[in-house]
Amino acid sequence: MTSDSLQINNVNKAFTRQSKYYDDYDKQNSTLTWMRQQVRKHVLKYLRPNDKILELNSGTGLDAEFFAQKGFLVHCTDLSDGMVEQMKEKFTSGNFSDKITIQQCSFTELDKIGNRKYDFIFSNFGGLNCIPDLRESTKYFPSLLNKTGRVSLVILPPVCPWELIQLFRGKIKFAFRRFNKGGTMANVEGVKFKTYYFSAPNVMRSLGNDFKLLKLESLAVFTPIPQMEKIPKKFPSLAKVLNKIDERISGVFPFNRIGDHIIVTAEYIVKD
Ligand SMILES: C[S@@+](CC[C@H](N)C(=O)[O-])C[C@H]1O[C@@H](n2cnc3c(N)ncnc32)[C@H](O)[C@@H]1O
Repeated sequence: MTSDSLQINNVNKAFTRQSKYYDDYDKQNSTLTWMRQQVRKHVLKYLRPNDKILELNSGTGLDAEFFAQKGFLVHCTDLSDGMVEQMKEKFTSGNFSDKITIQQCSFTELDKIGNRKYDFIFSNFGGLNCIPDLRESTKYFPSLLNKTGRVSLVILPPVCPWELIQLFRGKIKFAFRRFNKGGTMANVEGVKFKTYYFSAPNVMRSLGNDFKLLKLESLAVFTPIPQMEKIPKKFPSLAKVLNKIDERISGVFPFNRIGDHIIVTAEYIVKD
């Protein structure tokens, strides 16, 4: 087995295991809930009426359901057997069957989608951090987007203040894990796979010169990252204050480039 196919297999296995209780965990983690709200608010600002959305690494389809409820058509893609199963259970019949379509597909094989075109490509919560070079996915974007199509990519960047300050607790490896050039081993549900971290300029370079940056925003610069869920549980009022501070500074340099995740939104400019 090549290292690429081992990575794909392990990502599939890890997220398939996680898929069964993914939604429950998402709901009970107040930081994740807040971050998801921030992402949706951001994306709604850049969506235009009747936009067709292509969602990469959709997971269980939590965001697809939200955008479908707002009236958008969403084509959901994910690699993981379990995540795709969850989406099929939720969306194949009932209220969403005319708004949401599902395809099991890696974002490194987007040619499998065929000749369809979209107005918006969306990837939430670090799915794209599972590949070493974003161009493995972004190379397909121009052929999938309509003129002036937009993308919002929610990515784990290298600089995360809450991880860096773990240095003072002696957790040196953890504090600097996002700086490993060759990627860092993640352990999801006992399955290990590599994770890679990308700065905002790195994301823009991967999109190429035909994309213009519209907005850069951060998630959780001051808010403790979702893994530190004990903090908001113990100090809910403090967590709310930190959420508010983040909401104020999320779009302001240099805070918009650091944090647990960054949201990079860009527009495809077709040259005549
Ligand atoms: C942290 S989850 C995020 C899921 C969802 N976007 C959300 O916001 O809840 C990461 C997702 O990325 C998917 N993923 C990882 N590598 C992928 C790949 N090469 N192609 C498609 N999906 C992938 C995983 O299966 C998983 O569902």
